[in-house]
Amino acid sequence: MTTSRAETLSGRAVADGVAERLKARVAELPYVPRLVFVRVGEDPASVFYVRSKQRFAKRIGVDAETLVLPDDVDQAELMATIAALNADPDTDAVLVQLPLPGHLDSAPVLEAIDPAKDVDGFHPLNVGRLWSGGAALAPCTPVGLLAILDHHGLEVHGRHVVIVGRSHMVGKPAAALFLARHATVTLAHSRTRDLAGVVRTGDIVVAAVGRAGLITADMVKPGAVVLDVGMTRVGDRIVGDVAEDVWDVAGHMTPMPGGTGLVTVAMVLQNTLTAAERRRG
Ligand code: GUN
Repeated sequence: MTTSRAETLSGRAVADGVAERLKARVAELPYVPRLVFVRVGEDPASVFYVRSKQRFAKRIGVDAETLVLPDDVDQAELMATIAALNADPDTDAVLVQLPLPGHLDSAPVLEAIDPAKDVDGFHPLNVGRLWSGGAALAPCTPVGLLAILDHHGLEVHGRHVVIVGRSHMVGKPAAALFLARHATVTLAHSRTRDLAGVVRTGDIVVAAVGRAGLITADMVKPGAVVLDVGMTRVGDRIVGDVAEDVWDVAGHMTPMPGGTGLVTVAMVLQNTLTAAERRRG
């Protein structure tokens, strides 16, 4: 039997294209957009992600700063930091890197961010607008999934998208975004009965649970498009939710690393420009 490998959906190619477009947009503005990251503590993954976003900001000419708060900071001080950023007319975008240390409650923090500066799209007003078709700032990872499909000319309209994972950051907003693009959406998760049978009905599969190798070749329809969002540390490697053998079944697939994560970073900056342009008129 001959097996054919899936075509690679490079996140790098998408991110590079976005960088060029955003750089040109920034150059047209009469001001320098400003993005502020708030990072609490020294969680290595958070340090890595914020650094990646800050580097991308610099590449396109956006002013980005990271405020690092000690990991024992109290809720009131974190809230005061957000209030100051909301009030600062020169700050266009505020991103609080998650997860926060266990003693902090993230919901009130995310609700405290000015929705007009909320480039993660996690504020309830942006969540509501996303579902009701308004002018939301939408979460970066799922917006990036559509950017990957569009960049590679893969159709969404009328296709069946099976999303595995129901998080606020990825699964749920992805469902809203794919619906808005006229896909048929199934939102499955780790407790879905006959997950394999459900995933096998997907023309497009989004794997966003955070469980290494959850999606295996027998679960994927031959020729399907597979987008891997999961990231789990296994030893000294970061692996996705999609097992290696899926490369032999899928038609197109994102690599890990070099896939969806790079595009998420680019979308943070795309949202930053949108926020700045809307806010400053
Ligand atoms: N931690 C992991 N992913 C994300 C994200 O998209 N936004 C924020 N703020 N924190 C994260």
